[in-house]
Amino acid sequence: MQIDKIFIASDHAGFGLKKELKNSLSNIGYEIIDLGTDDATTSVDYPDFSHKMAKNLDDNCYGILICGTGIGISIAANRHANIRCALCHDEFTARLARQHNDANVIAMGARTIGTGVALDMIKVFLNTEFEGGRHERRVKKIEPQKENS
Ligand code: RB5
Repeated sequence: MQIDKIFIASDHAGFGLKKELKNSLSNIGYEIIDLGTDDATTSVDYPDFSHKMAKNLDDNCYGILICGTGIGISIAANRHANIRCALCHDEFTARLARQHNDANVIAMGARTIGTGVALDMIKVFLNTEFEGGRHERRVKKIEPQKENS
């Protein structure tokens, strides 16, 4: 996919990593749009940034979400129909998130991985295509389910 731009957002726990990733990714030519938060000291609520990501993300764009563990911000992101968010830890999970799951948002934990690993896995995520085929059918089955109805 030809990437137009990359949206990035974090809570306070992810602010430091967001700043470093923004610098590194724009230095290698990506257009990065920062949706906040804007400092590491003001405590904020991670779902607000997942919702902001959903409002901004459109076709031909990818998103990066960061909180302390990546767990909360990815759970909240996946409440939105236009997001398939994968919490990744390394290049392997980032590659499979694209090849098998066609994820359009990568989430990570600033308290669980270092900047080098984060950057490497983002590069893999951005440069890996969805494999389609049997995965297409499975991805199409990812829809909100209503129990007891
Ligand atoms: C904030 O302290 C922390 O709870 C948040 O960044 C995240 O790890 C939640 O999943």
